[in-house]
Amino acid sequence: VSRATQGELWSVDPAGWAARTEALDRPLLEAVLARLAAGPGDRVLDVGCGTGLLCALAARRGAEVTGLDAAPGLLAHARASVPAATFTEGDLEALPFADGAFTAVTAVNVLPYADDRRRAAAELARVTRAGGRVVATVGASPDEQESAALIDPLAPPADVPDWERGPDLREPGVLAALLAGAGLDVVDDGEIAFAHEHADVDRAIAAQLPAGPVEAAVRHSGRAAVEAALRTFFIPRARPDGSVRQPVAYRTVVASKR
Ligand SMILES: C[S@@+](CC[C@H](N)C(=O)[O-])C[C@H]1O[C@@H](n2cnc3c(N)ncnc32)[C@H](O)[C@@H]1O
Repeated sequence: VSRATQGELWSVDPAGWAARTEALDRPLLEAVLARLAAGPGDRVLDVGCGTGLLCALAARRGAEVTGLDAAPGLLAHARASVPAATFTEGDLEALPFADGAFTAVTAVNVLPYADDRRRAAAELARVTRAGGRVVATVGASPDEQESAALIDPLAPPADVPDWERGPDLREPGVLAALLAGAGLDVVDDGEIAFAHEHADVDRAIAAQLPAGPVEAAVRHSGRAAVEAALRTFFIPRARPDGSVRQPVAYRTVVASKR
């Protein structure tokens, strides 16, 4: 999962990601900021910031905010829509920041994209100031695993997260052990669960298309095959009125730096 390839795949539809996809996870981003207790006086770094919604919410809480991502398209959208924050292009495995530069660091659904997750975790710890906090999440619902099992085989293996390369980050305790291994003290290992609501199956499918792994599958296997796979996934989740409820759950670890 190289930074250059991911940056390109994730830049396919920044406006679509912001409007249709990132917005669905707003409850997660709010919960992450609540766990971080981010506020005035904090210097927050969001690693894998996407189009910047978490950065916008953190800035609204009074923090000084920086977002980092590999995708130039997402960053251009973030810069235009969140002027209160600073955005930097870079790699989560080699953060272009000084040791201890931030009081609070978030990595929401981005660690699975690291080639070397230990290195990525070490970078999160390195840029956090002593006494600062780190919150990391990974999608861990059975539904998400089921949709990944349908879509990932349609993409080149190198372009999607390799869940089997090490202990599965979606399993309880694995993300916490990763952060502990980077020298952080784990304060909480829990799950944030809610549901994505879609007006209908077509809109549920449209909300998946701006994501990097889905774009990788579209390029490799064609849009028709990907839409067919997503339809197979969403149709059983449609209510009689056509609307779709997609349960999501995010393993969420809060850690602090000594
Ligand atoms: C699932 S999205 C999460 C975005 C955002 N944190 C959110 O929750 O809406 C994964 C993000 O990781 C970024 N990404 C992928 N590989 C990366 C890398 N090597 N370095 C930095 N960011 C990367 C993608 O561009 C994308 O914005």
